[in-house]
Amino acid sequence: MDNEKKDYGSRKGTGENEESLTNRQGHPVTDNQNIRTVGNRGPGTLENYDFLEKISHFDRERIPERVVHARGAGAHGYFETYGKAGDEDVSKYTRAKVFQGAGKKTPVFVRFSTVAGAKESPETARDPRGFAVKFYTEDGNWDLVGNNLKIFFIRDPLKFPDMIHAFKPDPVTNVQNPERMFDFVSQSPETTHMITFLFSPWGIPANYRQMQGSGVNTYKWVNDKGEAVLVKYHWEPLKQGIRNLTQKEANEIQAINTSHATQDLYEAIDKGDYPEWELCVQIMSDEEHPELDFDPLDDTKLWPTDKFPFLPVGKMVLNKNPENYFAEVEQAAFGTGVLVDGLDFSDDKMLQGRTFSYSDTQRYRVGANYLQLPINSPKKRVATNQRDGQSAYRVDMAPGQNPHVNYEPSILGGLKEAEQIGKVHQPHYNDKLVREPIDRKNEFGQAGETYRNFEEWEKDELISNLVDALKICDPRIQNQMIENFTKADKEYGRRVSEGLAKAREEMGSNEHVSSFEADKAADKARKMGH
Ligand code: HEM
Repeated sequence: MDNEKKDYGSRKGTGENEESLTNRQGHPVTDNQNIRTVGNRGPGTLENYDFLEKISHFDRERIPERVVHARGAGAHGYFETYGKAGDEDVSKYTRAKVFQGAGKKTPVFVRFSTVAGAKESPETARDPRGFAVKFYTEDGNWDLVGNNLKIFFIRDPLKFPDMIHAFKPDPVTNVQNPERMFDFVSQSPETTHMITFLFSPWGIPANYRQMQGSGVNTYKWVNDKGEAVLVKYHWEPLKQGIRNLTQKEANEIQAINTSHATQDLYEAIDKGDYPEWELCVQIMSDEEHPELDFDPLDDTKLWPTDKFPFLPVGKMVLNKNPENYFAEVEQAAFGTGVLVDGLDFSDDKMLQGRTFSYSDTQRYRVGANYLQLPINSPKKRVATNQRDGQSAYRVDMAPGQNPHVNYEPSILGGLKEAEQIGKVHQPHYNDKLVREPIDRKNEFGQAGETYRNFEEWEKDELISNLVDALKICDPRIQNQMIENFTKADKEYGRRVSEGLAKAREEMGSNEHVSSFEADKAADKARKMGH
């Protein structure tokens, strides 16, 4: 629509040609160096449309950054289905068209990100990495909004804003502070497993290409008969492999480059070295599984791979860089509610909390009509009765639709409901409405297993990174963390405790002053006029 060739014949008088600068009204700009003034020394005049348009558009160039995952990079590519889930035909489990018919390709857009840092923050941060994939399927969009690590900190969405407040900069100093983070973490024992991964080398992937991805939360697959299974998604890097950084390596990179991961992704794709991931699923029957020592819907837990093996279902190749970072990457909007027929929600309460949050924030961050932007719009017909709102770009109508009918039902040529083809999955519920935690919390079991599964150098890194972060914390926080780690694994707790004792000696004092206590003392001193 925008790129059609224009006829400049009637404008010969302005000297406009194909290379000429114009303003947004299409007027050729003949002077882009000087504003209009009374005499060449000013004052300026206020009717200078070109200048006002240019400067006021500039004043509005930024949109709010994402409240989390603000720093990111993106790329286009495709997903190719194997038509199978392991050895079985995939249709046994799901009727989603994106997975049917080996070799079928579906275009995708992926955005990788860090979580806690601001939009231009260093990409070497110890932080989970976002791994969000938009599949432009023939049935409309499917978003798989995941992270690199396979689990999460918390299991109830009510805790998310508090957790993010603790991880983001202090509201007074605007500086990130591990004491605030560990204050929250120490009193939320379900975080112990994620913290164990995060403070190991797995907390700093070498770049965006050489890392895994995971949907983290549990979804459902629904087949033609309306039968459902629980499913978890995992992206495994293919030829590029997995690589993590030690804290020292990350510091060295950060000293010279704060955008190394964005640059790495862009340059790899630019030179034709396309990163690839295999999509694997873990499948479990849709039940409570009392035989497990954890709840399958608890996103702080891994599903053991000996019982629930990874079944490859397809692969993804990223082969095209964005042409415009803002239009494609910054304005991209992913959400866990964006599913297609054959994919469904599980009862995972985090998933429901997330599903409200994404589109809610995007209506604010990008605007009410964010789904009309090319990066977010499905690559298939869209026909709705939703109209207007800020930046409405077009009317999403069916070709023969009567333009006067923007409501349903109607016999005057409006849109009609589509026919339901597959059998609807109808889970049955009969329980009390409550506000309660789940029964099988098992806060520390898997954290201990994860610790014991690390290689020695990974354990060393973990302990040293934890000690570095915890040594400035209030002793009550340190003690609670040591207790949590000890419950996970005795050696784990002992090593953190010994590391902290040594750090205290090196800091030259057994009297530890937490940064919070120090702030309070400084505040008091200020109030007393010191
Ligand atoms: C981004 C909320 C948990 C992965 C976001 C955004 C919000 C949000 C508001 C910003 C979206 C935007 O501005 O477009 C939540 C809430 C959670 C939660 C309320 C828990 C209750 C998770 C978990 C994962 C995750 C468990 C990993 C599976 C992501 C990713 C992005 C993101 C990858 C960035 C998407 C992009 O690249 O645009 N989240 N989140 N979040 N979240 Fe979550």
